[in-house]
Amino acid sequence: MAQQRRNRSTEAFFGRRTGKPLRPKQSAAMADRLPVLKLDFSKAAPADLTTLFAAPVDSVTLEIGFGSGEHLLHQMATHEQQGFIGVEPFVNGMAKFVTALTGQEKNIRLHDDDATQLLDWLPESSVGSVDLLYPDPWPKQRHWKRRFVKPANLDRFARVLVPGGRFRFASDIAHYVNWTLIHCRAHSAFDWLASSASDWREPFAGWPGTRYEAKALREGRTPAYLTFVRNHAPSKLGESVCNARQ
Ligand SMILES: C[S@@+](CC[C@H](N)C(=O)[O-])C[C@H]1O[C@@H](n2cnc3c(N)ncnc32)[C@H](O)[C@@H]1O
Repeated sequence: MAQQRRNRSTEAFFGRRTGKPLRPKQSAAMADRLPVLKLDFSKAAPADLTTLFAAPVDSVTLEIGFGSGEHLLHQMATHEQQGFIGVEPFVNGMAKFVTALTGQEKNIRLHDDDATQLLDWLPESSVGSVDLLYPDPWPKQRHWKRRFVKPANLDRFARVLVPGGRFRFASDIAHYVNWTLIHCRAHSAFDWLASSASDWREPFAGWPGTRYEAKALREGRTPAYLTFVRNHAPSKLGESVCNARQ
């Protein structure tokens, strides 16, 4: 089952994979930098994920669906002691990101396909933080099952996060925010520690914003920022521990 999951490329990715043709500089950066930074799933993941990086790092953060990577670039520059794994299947987004790199960054690795493949490859309790920022909202009811937040993917987060690790979610779509709260609160591995409205109304500390957030703000929508903590409940491998089934 795990092997089948790894081989499928569309378990949770339903968006566009390509857009406009890449500029020559972007094509060159894709050819030069992506093969060096891309994770190789034909090999087993190292037990200690920090060894994936070109310089010593003290923890590993995933950013799923980084778009063009503005937030990820900011995080890499402001937290040089942390390792980051960025995931983006949209070729034009990945191309913008690798073009913005200087080539000297030592705390970044990449995956250019569905994040579920990466999550299934990673060892248990290996990641300090998962960021899912402005995921595709899939507003029509018949598409809700495509949303990245769902029981099977929360099980994946629960498996790879260290106890005390965090799952951060931001969205400007109220229905997806409520959906995520309901699903995470129904999941035995996650606690939402918010104690006042500022906990979800105010951006995460040091927040640089994202391209989608800027668009949402321009269009008058209000973002919400949710932080869940991976508690010490055992991870039930291969079986959903969620009660919410919307
Ligand atoms: C609405 S955009 C947000 C981009 C960025 N986080 C931002 O806030 O500007 C959602 C992104 O998630 C990516 N995405 C969708 N499904 C994904 C999946 N299964 N794995 C990884 N990324 C995914 C899409 O390609 C898209 O770039």
